[in-house]
Amino acid sequence: MTRHPNIVVAGRNLAAVDRYSDCLSRSSRFEVQKSHMTNGTCDPLHSSESSPSLLIVHVDAKVSLELEELSKRSADQRPPVIVIAAEENPELMRLAMRAGCRDFFVEPISESDLLGSTARLLAETTATHSGSSTVTALVNSTGGSGSSFLAVNLAHALQSACGCRTGLVDLDIQFAPLSQYLDVQGKLGVIDAIMHADDLDEVAFRAYLTPHESGVALLGGVRGKELVQVDSTSSMLVESWQHILGLMSSTFDQVVIDVPRHLDALGMATLRRADTVLLVLQQSLLSVREAAYLRQLLRTELGIPAEAIRCVVNRHEKRAAVEIADVKRALRTDDLLLLPNDYAAAAQSVDVGKPLLEHVPRSPLARATRELALAMTGAHVERKGLFSKMFGG
Ligand SMILES: Nc1ncnc2c1ncn2[C@@H]1O[C@H](COP(=O)(O)OP(=O)(O)O)[C@@H](O)[C@H]1O
Ligand SMILES: [Mg+2]
Repeated sequence: MTRHPNIVVAGRNLAAVDRYSDCLSRSSRFEVQKSHMTNGTCDPLHSSESSPSLLIVHVDAKVSLELEELSKRSADQRPPVIVIAAEENPELMRLAMRAGCRDFFVEPISESDLLGSTARLLAETTATHSGSSTVTALVNSTGGSGSSFLAVNLAHALQSACGCRTGLVDLDIQFAPLSQYLDVQGKLGVIDAIMHADDLDEVAFRAYLTPHESGVALLGGVRGKELVQVDSTSSMLVESWQHILGLMSSTFDQVVIDVPRHLDALGMATLRRADTVLLVLQQSLLSVREAAYLRQLLRTELGIPAEAIRCVVNRHEKRAAVEIADVKRALRTDDLLLLPNDYAAAAQSVDVGKPLLEHVPRSPLARATRELALAMTGAHVERKGLFSKMFGG
């Protein structure tokens, strides 16, 4: 069983220590320890036997003996630190930097900001020694449901908001929609990588990835090349593809793969390999019906367990002809992820070829995508409102 990262929340103000500890504990992905400091105690780590994965220090005075104490330790003797100050104070900020602070907040701080920063710092510290990644495959129930657009924006949010090294794969090799959404054009792609799979190791393989300025690396189709006729049912091809998937998995923390709906051998091998399949649908009768059929196929034909398949209702609207209760009934699940209908944000993002969080970060759709990425990395916001809005409650 994997042990959750342990986080110490320290401070002199008991109410603040309780508040931030409770917020982190609710995500149930961290072990949280409170360190309430009184009178003579200056070391925020006084009650911890071993160094925690992360230390959060709340400071409500103009001077902080705790930060002074931390700054006396050498960098390798202190964990990553987040400082939350009750008020703005440049002197405190300088002291925090000396104490090795990686993120500095002035109250009020939202739960999602705290959880986002926590997830990012933990991902950064574990990135160097994590063996393999989490693979998420997306497939749409009907064309235009939004699986390609979501794949791009989810990958971008995992990289930019959660600090995960993220690889993105586009299996629609002929039209290469993901390269369009990111406005990048590579010279090499999926087919080239498959053809040379036998010679590829983790270093050589990087030549087939197209970098986006956010840090996301795309392995996709290459537009403008001759129409590739690949017999994608040949078993050799699937073996090569599995090797490439292995390389993606050992290179990145998170791998997001967009799988076209006309499932071929590559698509099926990918879905079988994924830790989670996101089945993207819309609130229309046809889309829900197709989603129910595809979900059944994934379970019976590909043997994917029910808990690995999550249904995403994209372009969600409260007043749609098909209500969420109907979708739950048709798909026989209460576990739905909801992403709002946000035409303006989607259209702007697509027009300029920039991800939502980069181009329209305050839009409802950008925020919801970020929350989904945070939930995937374990820093979900179990707060009534945000969470229930997103998870169909
Ligand atoms: N939540 C949303 N709200 C509004 N428009 C959206 C939303 N999600 C996607 N879109 C729009 O739908 C278009 C088609 O999506 P796409 O991901 O290419 O579909 P698919 O891959 O499922 O065929 C995108 O170009 C985008 O403009
Ligand atoms: Mg698509």
